[in-house]
Amino acid sequence: MSDKRLGITLNDNELPKRWYNIQPDLPEPLSPPKDPEHGESRVKALPEMLLGECLRQEFSPDKWIDIPEPVRELYVQAGRPRQLFRAKRLEKALKTPARLYYKAEFYSPTGSHKVNTALAQAYYAQKEGYERISTETGAGQWGTALAYGASLVGLPSIVFWVRAVHDWKHDRKNLMKLYGAEVHASPSNLTGAGRALYNQNPKHPGSLGIAVSEGLEVAKNDDKTIYSLGSVLNHVLMHQTVIGLEAQKQFEIAEDYPDVVISCLGGGSNFGGFALPFVGDRLTKKRDIRFIAAQSEVAPNLTGEYKYDFADHAELTPMMKMYTLGHRKEMRPIKGDGLRYHAAAPVLSLLRKHGIIDTIAYPADEKHVFEHARTFVRTEGFLPAPESAYSVACAIDEALACKERKEEKCIAFNISGHGFMDMGGYSEVLGL
Ligand SMILES: Cc1ncc(COP(=O)(O)O)c(C=O)c1O
Repeated sequence: MSDKRLGITLNDNELPKRWYNIQPDLPEPLSPPKDPEHGESRVKALPEMLLGECLRQEFSPDKWIDIPEPVRELYVQAGRPRQLFRAKRLEKALKTPARLYYKAEFYSPTGSHKVNTALAQAYYAQKEGYERISTETGAGQWGTALAYGASLVGLPSIVFWVRAVHDWKHDRKNLMKLYGAEVHASPSNLTGAGRALYNQNPKHPGSLGIAVSEGLEVAKNDDKTIYSLGSVLNHVLMHQTVIGLEAQKQFEIAEDYPDVVISCLGGGSNFGGFALPFVGDRLTKKRDIRFIAAQSEVAPNLTGEYKYDFADHAELTPMMKMYTLGHRKEMRPIKGDGLRYHAAAPVLSLLRKHGIIDTIAYPADEKHVFEHARTFVRTEGFLPAPESAYSVACAIDEALACKERKEEKCIAFNISGHGFMDMGGYSEVLGL
């Protein structure tokens, strides 16, 4: 193995030209969204909720969707393609026979993979004539990415941010503002969905489901504002497949191929983006790959019930068939709060139902996760976001299991974001 293969870089012209839509390769068709028994039709209202192009992509039967040239340019400006690293120093520290590789989504202007769909959605919003974009955010990474994407295409944005995180990530809030976003702690008293909860408890910690309702409501009440979602939906996961498509090329250069593919999973956008191209290989080329989603015990949505549920707290969205803990489930805040969502993306839920995705839920005190992340920081030098620390922990656990069993497996994991603005999480959990 030459040193060149420690950090595998692609050229600009190797940036994927198309996103991968797994829908035609799935073992069975996705169940369509449906309406609840009572009330207005949410399904009929979908064209008012989503960007026209995103709605088309959401139900597209095409396996490949062209990435518009202006979006590819924005990807290049945001630093794509991103490196795939061989974690030699970590392997040595763990004394494992496993080969570990990680994808560096933390090399992002705003800190995470979320820019991959934010740039696409902001581009479509501007093209379709909208004047503002509204959204929710948990960890704050999606809110920052959307504020950044909107600002690059010249649009303002409004972000509803889960209060439990909003109240400790002050610098990230200022970064969103710097990009021109209006930022509100959620639940807020600005929307009907938020007000009822806010009035009961002005310090309500909030949840992604509540913040989604608020973002949707603001867009519903203003023709010129469009709502944009950062996870869960098919088109969002598809925009993220640039991660896995690049990784596939990088494994060719490394003359290696993963036996195990790992990432953290909240709603599923980074896991889907990294894993789905490899899931495609498993489904169409019969490659033998294991997929593991790293989750928290506070929100182990992949171990919930597989049924129709809403994506938000106020029931504004259509119902989707997915593994869910229930859209009003109370889950206590954690430092990797971007993983605190009640349901997993329908595509990933279907794959879970077919036994293709395994999941592990780490203890709510997050000690195990942050301790493993510390080992990674000390050996590889990069600081993972708290959510990405779950990927790291899971990869290390797998590498240690390989050591135990004397197995030389190839383990690939995605580091979805950096933790420069999340040090409070590390300090609190590790007592720094
Ligand atoms: C860095 C990072 N990784 C992962 C996630 C989890 O979201 P998803 O499952 O959509 O990737 C988040 C969510 O905020 C995040 O900020």
